[in-house]
Amino acid sequence: MDKRENLPVHIGIIMDGNGRWAKKHGLPRNMGHKKGAETFEKISKYCRDIGIRWLTVYAFSTENWKRPPEEVAGLMALMRQYLKNMDTAFGEKIAVRFIGDRGPLDGDIVKLIEKAEAANIPEPKLTVQVALNYGGRDEIVHAVKKLAEDVKSGALEPEDVDEREIAKRLYSPDAPDPDLIIRPSGEERISNFLLWQCAYSELVFMDVLWPDFTPEHLEKALDEYEKRSRRFGGI
Ligand code: IPE
Ligand code: IPE
Ligand code: MG
Repeated sequence: MDKRENLPVHIGIIMDGNGRWAKKHGLPRNMGHKKGAETFEKISKYCRDIGIRWLTVYAFSTENWKRPPEEVAGLMALMRQYLKNMDTAFGEKIAVRFIGDRGPLDGDIVKLIEKAEAANIPEPKLTVQVALNYGGRDEIVHAVKKLAEDVKSGALEPEDVDEREIAKRLYSPDAPDPDLIIRPSGEERISNFLLWQCAYSELVFMDVLWPDFTPEHLEKALDEYEKRSRRFGGI
């Protein structure tokens, strides 16, 4: 358990830099993703052990379909392999959920996701949300579509549309907003990650490629987070 006074409840991580890591080592890009998946395993267990309650990792964006078909196939194969080895991959007392649009995913992956979610323990120490075919804008579009249907059916009055009604229709309405979002790889942007939820997240950008990311890097991000003064518009 971490001794910090203000540990974030929810951490988001944009797992970026796998391709550059592979290039640096003269390996195919998919080897970078494989190594990145190992980092994910280690970091999620570390988060559990220090008392983080929620971890959301960006694994595949709605824009990542633009990549060469062999890279997309490699990423999906990796996901399949992970889902089949859920017990060892995610560790004890960790629940796993997937956020994103499942529509375009292969049917067997969707079945594996459903199976994994159904096997979750009721009171996990940590809930890991894997953002797969996830886009922040896409998530908002889905929520607004549901809202429009409810207005059309008369279940909701237009004047009752507010932030709560939108938030309720997002992929994971019971998850708190992320307190801290970490992006390794040196890139300093959000790339369509948790757009609604990041309104007041603390952002930490780090100059390390995701496959090289260690618990020490996470601790550095937590040090930085501890120094921030969160005001949420107040004083
Ligand atoms: C992140 O690493 C993994 C995915 C987006 C699936 P990248 O593959 O984007 O790595 P870089 O940015 O090319 O180094
Ligand atoms: C964001 O990384 C998506 C994931 C890490 C899954 P990208 O590598 O796709 O983002 P850009 O293209 O650099 O903005
Ligand atoms: Mg990238």
